[in-house]
Amino acid sequence: MPKRYLVTSALPYANGPLHIGHLAGAYLPADIYVRYLRGMGEDVVFICGSDEHGAAITIRAKADGVEPQGIVDRYDRLIKETFEKVGVSFDKYHRTSSELHHETAQEFFRDLHDKGEFVKQTSEQYFDEKSQQFLADRYITGTCPKCNHEEAYGDQCENCGSTLSPTELINPKSKMSGETPVLKETTHWYLPLDKYEEWLRPWVVDGKLEGKQHHDPSEWKPHVLGQCKSWLDNGLQARAMTRDLTWGVDVPQEIEGAEGKKLYVWLDAPIGYISATKQWAEENGKDWKPYWQDEDTKLLHFIGKDNIVFHCVIFPVILKANGNYILPDNVPANQFLNLEGRKISTSKNWAIWVHEYLEDFKEQAEFIDILRYYMIKVMPETRDSEFTWKGFQEANNSELVGTFANFINRVVVLTNKYYDGKIPNINSDLVIACSSEEGKTSSFDAELNAIKIHMDRIGEFIHKYDFRSALKELMSLSELGNKLLQFNAPWSLIKTDEETTKVVMNIAAQVVTALSVAVHPFLPDTSDRLRDLLNLPRIKNEDFKIALNLLSENKALISAAHEIGKPIHLFTKLSDEWVAEQIQKLEDSQEKTISYPPIKEEATFDDFQKMDIRTGKILRAEKVKKAKKLLKLTVDIGMEERTVVSGIAEFFTPEEVVGKNVVLLANLAPRKIRGVESQGMILMAENDKGELDFVSPSEGFGEGFTVR
Ligand code: 2FM
Ligand code: ZN
Repeated sequence: MPKRYLVTSALPYANGPLHIGHLAGAYLPADIYVRYLRGMGEDVVFICGSDEHGAAITIRAKADGVEPQGIVDRYDRLIKETFEKVGVSFDKYHRTSSELHHETAQEFFRDLHDKGEFVKQTSEQYFDEKSQQFLADRYITGTCPKCNHEEAYGDQCENCGSTLSPTELINPKSKMSGETPVLKETTHWYLPLDKYEEWLRPWVVDGKLEGKQHHDPSEWKPHVLGQCKSWLDNGLQARAMTRDLTWGVDVPQEIEGAEGKKLYVWLDAPIGYISATKQWAEENGKDWKPYWQDEDTKLLHFIGKDNIVFHCVIFPVILKANGNYILPDNVPANQFLNLEGRKISTSKNWAIWVHEYLEDFKEQAEFIDILRYYMIKVMPETRDSEFTWKGFQEANNSELVGTFANFINRVVVLTNKYYDGKIPNINSDLVIACSSEEGKTSSFDAELNAIKIHMDRIGEFIHKYDFRSALKELMSLSELGNKLLQFNAPWSLIKTDEETTKVVMNIAAQVVTALSVAVHPFLPDTSDRLRDLLNLPRIKNEDFKIALNLLSENKALISAAHEIGKPIHLFTKLSDEWVAEQIQKLEDSQEKTISYPPIKEEATFDDFQKMDIRTGKILRAEKVKKAKKLLKLTVDIGMEERTVVSGIAEFFTPEEVVGKNVVLLANLAPRKIRGVESQGMILMAENDKGELDFVSPSEGFGEGFTVR
């Protein structure tokens, strides 16, 4: 048995919000696992944080025309808040832009450098002469040599999945400037991954490290092992651990040639788990080292399948090369979650954004847990899986409402009706009908034991990272409760045998209480609501274990005479119209993908003052001959009339524009367009579809007045 656990979830890039695919991949499974361990009284630290470096951030910043720091500040806040609201219970959510992280990552680099683990190599890489920078893989796009997809990245084609190198791209273009890059020499530090194969292969394949059994490889998911083996079989290659970038962790400056070089984001990000643990320790008066350096710690990385090689090959190599660190015991990566038959896509806005979902349903507390429930139910544990709103409705209506809430509600209603809300005192020797098999008899103790079996099995599945089965087991515990009521029919039994009815209702209350404990790792908010309803304190560390111990000693989880509350609605049915609305919302969001032009270079107030902008009114308009796009306008600007040639003919007819109030740049140097002298420019707004509209003062404002 491990002495302690360190559990990490992949650090999300702080370049956009979280969608349901993220949640189902790396965060919910880890949260269930950690909550369960806490419930069992284990020493566990749960770590995550924002991944704030790498091309994902700088490209986004460039597209929005802002500094990378602005992007990461915005999304770090949003992501952190989203995790909190959806109940993902990290002990520390840190940031890789923090000073502590920069120091920690640099220390690692320095250590490996000083030990001679890196090989310094010079090679030709693409350079963008316009923006004066080398272009890391993701900064170059071009045509894929394998499938001709026109927007392949320098490291990968997302259309056909091929791994590429930038020089393979046909017609490469810089993402920074749109220009064709040139090849230029640059020097970097490489980690020769092949050098470590001797220990890496037996570690991955047999779970053996230096002759000793490190972990049980049969506990690793087949798709994770498969991917690792295929990397090993294809031959590992040296990988550059530095980049020519302006955003990221500096290569320690005392190292020769460090100037202008940053750490490769996949070197720096996983070290983020360590710096986050340090930060957690500092804030909580603990020592971080045992969690990373003591053999008795079980280290687990929860990730999505696109991160497997980094966590199973590259990061372990880095840890082992340092020499002071333990290696992961398992990397339970999940596959991908699809949405309504299509791949989730950020760029196409085909996603359910978690913060939007939370905002949409913020008035109804149960929606957080319906989402959690359904995501666990369809979690892509071993293969890609599918989120549909219809499935969401079915899971809610038939399982959460039909099985779970229905059972609890019946117990609460009957307890209030028969016993004024007080758990009845019982003679535990009486015989009742068995919950698991119609026609069989049972007893109070035997039913407590049946509860325990379900709770044990929940734990077993969780330890196997089989969260879907664990959830099913939880539901079969409520099913047990439903059968208990069905087979004993307390509503008729009470007419003939009050004492036996009390036993049935008491054991039913034990099942409800067991549910309030067992549901906590999966649906923490439901657990809270249920504990409040039962008038019991909310779940804290060790409660799962305490419940198991009580059950194994045939002791009640809720005592006789304890008074519970009045019935509440834990979950309510969702209608077909509601489902249709959600699907419509998703379809509509497709049109909302807007790309905004970047903010232009800074202008001074004086620059602005040079422009003489005035209000005006269009008096006459006619088409310009042989020019499809142009109208010749006569504009009244109070003290005079101006002739203006304007490129608006595709959007407005001459008849439509006569009488329009407009805004005119009046001191623009006159120029001849198609033989007509244009004496100014009408200001127009242009949207993302290239459509134009007038910028107009209100009717009656008057002509010739200044705009400032
Ligand atoms: O794929 C991603 O979203 C990465 N930001 C994951 C990083 S995991 C870790 F190593 F930090
Ligand atoms: Zn391709």
